[in-house]
Amino acid sequence: MEEHVSATVAPESREVGGKPLAEVRHGDAFDLFDQLRKSSVDLVITSPPYWGHRDYGLPHNWDYFNDIPTVRKIGPVSPGYQWYREQGGLLGLEPYPEWFVQHLAEILDKAKAGLKPSGSMWINIGDTYFARWASIREQGRQGLGTDERYRRKTPLGGIRAEKNLLLIPARFAIAMQERGWILRNDVIWHKPNAVPRPEGDRLRSVHEHFFHFVKKPSAGRATYYYDIGEAEPRAGDVVTVNVAPGEAGHSATFPHDLIGPRILTSCPPGGVVLDPFSGTGRALEVALEHGRHAIGFDAQLEFVQLQKTKLNGNCKRPARKLRQ
Ligand SMILES: C[S@@+](CC[C@H](N)C(=O)[O-])C[C@H]1O[C@@H](n2cnc3c(N)ncnc32)[C@H](O)[C@@H]1O
Repeated sequence: MEEHVSATVAPESREVGGKPLAEVRHGDAFDLFDQLRKSSVDLVITSPPYWGHRDYGLPHNWDYFNDIPTVRKIGPVSPGYQWYREQGGLLGLEPYPEWFVQHLAEILDKAKAGLKPSGSMWINIGDTYFARWASIREQGRQGLGTDERYRRKTPLGGIRAEKNLLLIPARFAIAMQERGWILRNDVIWHKPNAVPRPEGDRLRSVHEHFFHFVKKPSAGRATYYYDIGEAEPRAGDVVTVNVAPGEAGHSATFPHDLIGPRILTSCPPGGVVLDPFSGTGRALEVALEHGRHAIGFDAQLEFVQLQKTKLNGNCKRPARKLRQ
């Protein structure tokens, strides 16, 4: 899936103090993290696929992973993301939520090498209620709408009980801490305009998590770039921002006001922002607007092409000609 790239991402070679530049790459973040120049990125900010929601038009081996006897034999501990991918598995459609947490932590842990010691990683992630059979759509919300859907099957057992809120964000944050990341904030993103759901036996879910991780130094306490003066008024860890309208059939776009303060607080002016699951490229646009360079990865070629068009033609400060 990954396309050939002729050079590694090299923010140092970009104009210092000049106009901000962007670069978009097509492929799996798992591979593309390895192409980053060591200690070259100031901020990783992203919203990865959530578990059991969408397939983003990407291929998945439904036959293999919907075969319950086969996946039961493997069990809730995944042999690893590389193995999963080789069997045709797509991130977010794992038969076990436990595999998803493991795979996501494995992929995002690869950000360590490219991230500067002073860098930050902000990860926005939402939760999922367990259902043994779940509808998966290409773009729309799980279980709503009329577009084509697949049925994802999952073995029952352990936390995998009908109606159970899986606490995936918390499990993911713990998995990252166990990999040595320091968790600095668990920001609650309150979404006042979240889409109503039909369930009548629980409250509506109107929040997601936005975790702030930094690197653990080999000795002493973590020190990293942070400009608290650029946070929201009162600088609290609950932020209220409306869900952004979808774009180009992509229903999970980052709201400008959610990520603007994260970019301004956690990336110095002229620094480099990376979104490894960049979708419509919203994080790249906001980074450029604020005078930061931007790099995007995405596995879906259509989104990569959309980003290239937008960043070349429509940016307030257009990016240079992009290369793959
Ligand atoms: C939640 S969306 C990101 C939306 C984005 N924040 C925006 O504002 O548009 C997740 C994105 O991850 C991409 N994706 C899924 N698996 C991937 C992988 N292994 N590597 C890179 N991108 C992937 C999907 O194509 C999708 O665009």
